[in-house]
Amino acid sequence: MNPVIEKINAAVKSAAEKCAAAAAAADIEAVRIEFLGRNGLFPALSREMGSIPAEQRRETGAAFNAGRQQIQQLIDEGVARFAKGGDESAIDTSLPGRRRPVGRKHPVMEIADECVAIFSRMGFVPVSGPEMEDIYHNFDALNTPADHPSRDEQDTFYFPDGRILRSQTSPVQIRVMETHEPPVRIVAPGRVFRRDTPDATHGMNFHQIEGLYIDRDVSMADLKSVLLTFAREMYGEKINIRLRPHFFPFTEPSVEYDFSCVVCGGKGCNVCKNSGYIEIAGAGMVDPAVLKNVGYDPEKWSGFAFGLGIERLAMLRYRIPDLRYLYENDVRFLEQF
Ligand code: PHE
Repeated sequence: MNPVIEKINAAVKSAAEKCAAAAAAADIEAVRIEFLGRNGLFPALSREMGSIPAEQRRETGAAFNAGRQQIQQLIDEGVARFAKGGDESAIDTSLPGRRRPVGRKHPVMEIADECVAIFSRMGFVPVSGPEMEDIYHNFDALNTPADHPSRDEQDTFYFPDGRILRSQTSPVQIRVMETHEPPVRIVAPGRVFRRDTPDATHGMNFHQIEGLYIDRDVSMADLKSVLLTFAREMYGEKINIRLRPHFFPFTEPSVEYDFSCVVCGGKGCNVCKNSGYIEIAGAGMVDPAVLKNVGYDPEKWSGFAFGLGIERLAMLRYRIPDLRYLYENDVRFLEQF
């Protein structure tokens, strides 16, 4: 056995002992540097090869390769041992921490909360109702005739047991009046569902905020002032509103409620399709038939109701051209709010 082979054998033994005794990843790294590092033992041995007699070179070279491999394996095992944890010195406490991205409120929720805050300041109490409704609360109690198209399976999602996903937040009006004596002043934000084909301004589920005000001698003027106050709180003092005659089964008279265009101020632009106004909601005086359905005396009590589309308000606030952006959950989009 020549002196180089002796050194190789001694090195493997020493490396094995050192790896076994290692207490931290740094001890393993020290073994690597001592034996396999650029200025370590093995590169030095390889330079000694030249002095080995020719007939021993083959044997010595084989021992060299085998020894280097064994030490590399010891190092690999040592690295893996400490990488598995259990040794605190394997954690580099000097590294900067990793910043986790922080979530934020979705723009639709942002606007919903803002609406609730505005109406709360006018004395409306926030309430909620179920998203899975029955036909009675969503249609019958709201004075909707049996042949009304909105009841159709083409428009409303039915469960096999005959219940539905509510197509509007108006059933919350009924649930509140059934359980509370007048006067009543509530807002009910929430999710609604319709079988629409999704496009830039329609989705299969979206959000509404319902308002209901029942008291003695409530008039259309009260409705108009509440809606005007809301419009100006939401989009600024320059906003005007417009009420257009419309029809809803549960209000009489009924109106559609428009804002003067928040983009052009009423002059006409592509957002308001040159009309100067943007449709926001439906509203009206609660139909006496609805009051009777919940046991209120229409001779004594009157009131108004309204329903706003929250996505519509968010699109106007943030100038979002397509409703679908709100639901694709693309972080690049959501990060902007
Ligand atoms: N529920 C109606 C809709 O979804 C809106 C509305 C609410 C109209 C309250 C009048 C009163 O279209």
